[in-house]
Amino acid sequence: MEQKIIIAGGSGFLGNALYQYYTAKGVLVKILTRNPKKADDVYWDGKTLGAWKNELENATALINLAGKSVNCRYNKANKRAILSSRIDSTAILGSAVRACEVPPAYWFNSSTATIYQHTNGDAPANTEKEGKIGSDFSMNIAKDWEAVFNRQVTPNTKKVVLRTAIVYGKDGGAFPVVWQLAKRGLCSPQAGGQQWVSWIHEIDFCKAIDYIMAKEATGIFNICAPNPITNKTFNEVLAKYAQPIIKLPQPKWLLQIGAIFIKTEVELILKSRKVYPANLLALGFKFDYENVEDAIANISLKNR
Ligand SMILES: NC(=O)c1ccc[n+]([C@@H]2O[C@H](COP(=O)([O-])OP(=O)(O)OC[C@H]3O[C@@H](n4cnc5c(N)ncnc54)[C@H](OP(=O)(O)O)[C@@H]3O)[C@@H](O)[C@H]2O)c1
Repeated sequence: MEQKIIIAGGSGFLGNALYQYYTAKGVLVKILTRNPKKADDVYWDGKTLGAWKNELENATALINLAGKSVNCRYNKANKRAILSSRIDSTAILGSAVRACEVPPAYWFNSSTATIYQHTNGDAPANTEKEGKIGSDFSMNIAKDWEAVFNRQVTPNTKKVVLRTAIVYGKDGGAFPVVWQLAKRGLCSPQAGGQQWVSWIHEIDFCKAIDYIMAKEATGIFNICAPNPITNKTFNEVLAKYAQPIIKLPQPKWLLQIGAIFIKTEVELILKSRKVYPANLLALGFKFDYENVEDAIANISLKNR
């Protein structure tokens, strides 16, 4: 039987990466979106049941990526939307799965590696089993997101939580922005550069999901490369490839002012994320890009 994958919130960066990956393998992919544009797009509103539910019948997997981008100012309205877009979409997908005659075999629900506390210096990286969960705004969002997913009882659907680190890719997400800034000289350590950066190449993000499914695994997975690096190292590698004429200093106060101008939060840069993909490695997953230099060398080619 033809494989069918449904990606809720699949019109964005990661959904597009998965769409390319799976359609290249001959899998039928449908995208649940609030603004259908392509033949494979299906309308949903992310919060109420509708005809879209029928797409889930007999699906190989449902992958939920829906959520308002966190790349915005954390004012009251945005904070509310960041939370509700994740909670409402996850809850309604649970109702849809339960309403299916033949529900999807798998349900991957996005979460984030930001759920873990800041990790300083040589402290061990956070694994799924021993990682320290935090409680600031972003960490609480992640906890609520996972809690609503965990509450969904789906006896015939295997469930997986994706605690994804920053995904580096050619056509979206953080990398193209960071790359353009680096080319203009903004590739020095940020706010001292001692904070950890956990990351994954977009192709490994796709392959990891595929691998978990092939192994019929369930539970929580840190979706990140096994070699987190400091912000200083990341910027050194970035500078090596971006080759700016000058390197401008990036102290914390300047980043804080800059974040206001470009309508984002400096937390996205200052957070120290040190995360380790223990469960993926235990399952035998092999990364195409284990080291950040290989990833940047690959991704930066297209953005030069
Ligand atoms: N990119 C990363 O590095 C990264 C890392 C960790 C975790 N994540 C998480 O992974 C997910 C996907 O990331 P991404 O980079 O692909 O994000 P993205 O490009 O912003 O795409 C997210 C999608 O969510 C949908 N969406 C937004 N607000 C919604 C709402 N109120 N109700 C229903 N759907 C809504 C949008 O689809 P429509 O507008 O078409 O409906 C959008 O295409 C996000 O939840 C993100 O938090 C991403």
